[in-house]
Amino acid sequence: MQDIFYIRRSIRRFKERPVDKEILEEILDRARLYPSAANLQPVRFIVTLSDERISRALPYLRWAAYVKPRRDPIPGKGPKALVLVCHDRRVSDTPYVPYDVSAACQTLLLAAVEKGLGGCWLGAIDRDGLGSIFDISSHWYLHCVLALGYPDECPVIEQVKDGDIRYFLDQDDVLHVPKRSLSEVVLWVQ
Ligand SMILES: Cc1cc2nc3c(=O)[nH]c(=O)nc-3n(C[C@H](O)[C@H](O)[C@H](O)COP(=O)(O)O)c2cc1C
Repeated sequence: MQDIFYIRRSIRRFKERPVDKEILEEILDRARLYPSAANLQPVRFIVTLSDERISRALPYLRWAAYVKPRRDPIPGKGPKALVLVCHDRRVSDTPYVPYDVSAACQTLLLAAVEKGLGGCWLGAIDRDGLGSIFDISSHWYLHCVLALGYPDECPVIEQVKDGDIRYFLDQDDVLHVPKRSLSEVVLWVQ
């Protein structure tokens, strides 16, 4: 079953192929349709396709802790677009904001897959460092970064074994991502 939900895995190796601005705009146009508490829509996206700005941002992003440093960016395989996901405090600052942000992130990542791209949601970020590169309004709070590009890896879904949820790399540098089974995560009730 290869629909976008199965295809979407966190991608940390990208092809050199650039991402067209028009395609990224189509992805962002879908991301803005995320479900939002009270429909306040506080999420804001700061977007760059600039290789120069992306390379300046890379030191402030942390990749794949379980396999470190084997999924740190290497020359020629880095992301081709970065989306900084923020929220505007003036629009909403309720406890629901992180849900809105998460909904927007997943919507964006799935829209990217639909367009043949892949991406990684990066929560382990240096906000001050990124703030020195991107002009972020003082009214905006930076939550996370989505790194995007054409995938140059094809991670494989695994069953969680013995409760071990850590993703791992095999000897061919293929990433394996354990997922909990349907029976573990679903409780049917009558
Ligand atoms: C809130 C959040 C923060 C994450 N932060 C990072 C991160 O800082 N660096 C990273 O390499 N991956 C990060 N990830 C990606 C997860 O490692 C990844 O989603 C998980 O291993 C499952 O793999 P999958 O996305 O392929 O299903 C993050 C994911 C989420 C949802």
